[in-house]
Amino acid sequence: MGSLHISSLTARKHCCCSSRCCIVPAAVSLLLLVAALATSNAYFTLPDRHRLSLFPRPFFSSHTRRGERCHIFRGDWVPDPDAPYYTNATCKAIHEHYDCMRYGKPDLGFVRWRWQPDGCDLPRLDPWRFLDLMRGKSLAFVGDSLARNHKDSLICLLTRVQAAEPTPSWPSSKHTVYYYGQYNFTVSNFWAPYLVRHEQIDEDGPAHTGLWNLYLDEPDDVWAAHVAGFDYVVVSASSWFYRPSMLYEAGRLVGCHYCLLPNVTDLTLRYALRMATRAALRALSGADGRFRGTAMLRTVDPSQYEGGEWNKDGNCVRTRPYRRGEKRVQGIDMTVWAPQLEEFTAAKKAAAAEGGKVSMMLMDTTEAMILRADAHPSKFRGWTPEKHFTLNNDCVHWCLPGAIDTWNDMLLHMLSST
Ligand SMILES: *[C@@H]1O[C@H](CO)[C@@H](O)[C@H](O)[C@H]1NC(C)=O
Ligand SMILES: *[C@@H]1O[C@H](CO)[C@@H](O)[C@H](O)[C@H]1NC(C)=O
Ligand SMILES: *[C@@H]1O[C@H](CO)[C@@H](O)[C@H](O)[C@H]1NC(C)=O
Repeated sequence: MGSLHISSLTARKHCCCSSRCCIVPAAVSLLLLVAALATSNAYFTLPDRHRLSLFPRPFFSSHTRRGERCHIFRGDWVPDPDAPYYTNATCKAIHEHYDCMRYGKPDLGFVRWRWQPDGCDLPRLDPWRFLDLMRGKSLAFVGDSLARNHKDSLICLLTRVQAAEPTPSWPSSKHTVYYYGQYNFTVSNFWAPYLVRHEQIDEDGPAHTGLWNLYLDEPDDVWAAHVAGFDYVVVSASSWFYRPSMLYEAGRLVGCHYCLLPNVTDLTLRYALRMATRAALRALSGADGRFRGTAMLRTVDPSQYEGGEWNKDGNCVRTRPYRRGEKRVQGIDMTVWAPQLEEFTAAKKAAAAEGGKVSMMLMDTTEAMILRADAHPSKFRGWTPEKHFTLNNDCVHWCLPGAIDTWNDMLLHMLSST
């Protein structure tokens, strides 16, 4: 009963933001465009350099029983005959964009895989243990529709604890709260697709996907005003940066991304994403004394269209994960991933210099997810097309239950070590 209540409220409330939330794939057209324009330049030379300079240092590792170090973000997908741990029938909080079971995804084999890191195990989330650990705490997800996808996955995984019925509320159209009274545990989700303050100035714009003003040094108050109340926050954003934008710093226009204006410098999407990520992490650095918890940056989630473009014939129809090494992060995804890793490294160092009042962790889901082209909704989801977009297949978001549940396995593992 209570969960049905959540379902109807969730559905209704999300209507108002569905136009924003679901056009993430629009980014992909620009992405392809930008990738095409970028042909021979530095985008494609980044991978090797960053592999060398960044990856040998484990951002997050744990000890196995044998005392070896384990990198939980490196591994392979292996069968999990016990999955799924919830269904569309047991979790009423699944947003219709991700409800692939209900919308008839034909092969449900994609739910029966778990992430096996090298040299250690990543247990599936134990919801009782998770809630015990979160007693009296507050956890926030900040970002775009993938942050919402992540939050929905967590809420669903916790439905196994039948005694822990959350009470949902919507302090604003961009702020959703689930409160677990028995545990005094709060899960918040903030809609902040650019992390920083932004406004749409043209619905059409040079790529017919809208044009935004981004204030790159101003963390969006939608979430930044609340940081003092967070114990844990997972920040993620990348998809929206593919769209054309005018870039401001200190209130002054400094350039743009794909505005196609002869008198404005194109600073690239990488610059915009880098500066916005920097601003968001600065708000969580502890320097101003407001935030005192653990901040996590979750890395880019590549879209996975095959056989065409996102708005044409492109689709994701695989029925098995790739094996490790069959698919690598490259091109435009690397353009986003590398600055995220660099900004995280710098922010972690800065936070340590502040005396370690906050903890910074990287949730580097990129390599695991690039192997899961089988776990997207494709056309098996509820969706209302938006004015400027013809989205045939969704190869950006993740079906629930499914591969994205692993992000919460990782979350518990990371939280357990703080
Ligand atoms: C769940 O999905 C099945 C198909 O897998 C469908 O028949 C059923 O109606 C769905 N239930 C709900 C509550 O959406
Ligand atoms: C619930 O947790 C908050 C911190 O998130 C704390 O300030 C408050 O006192 C707690 N309330 C109870 C009833 O334990
Ligand atoms: C660039 O040129 C356009 C059109 O001529 C003009 O409207 C705009 O103010 C100029 N912008 C800047 C930053 O100079």
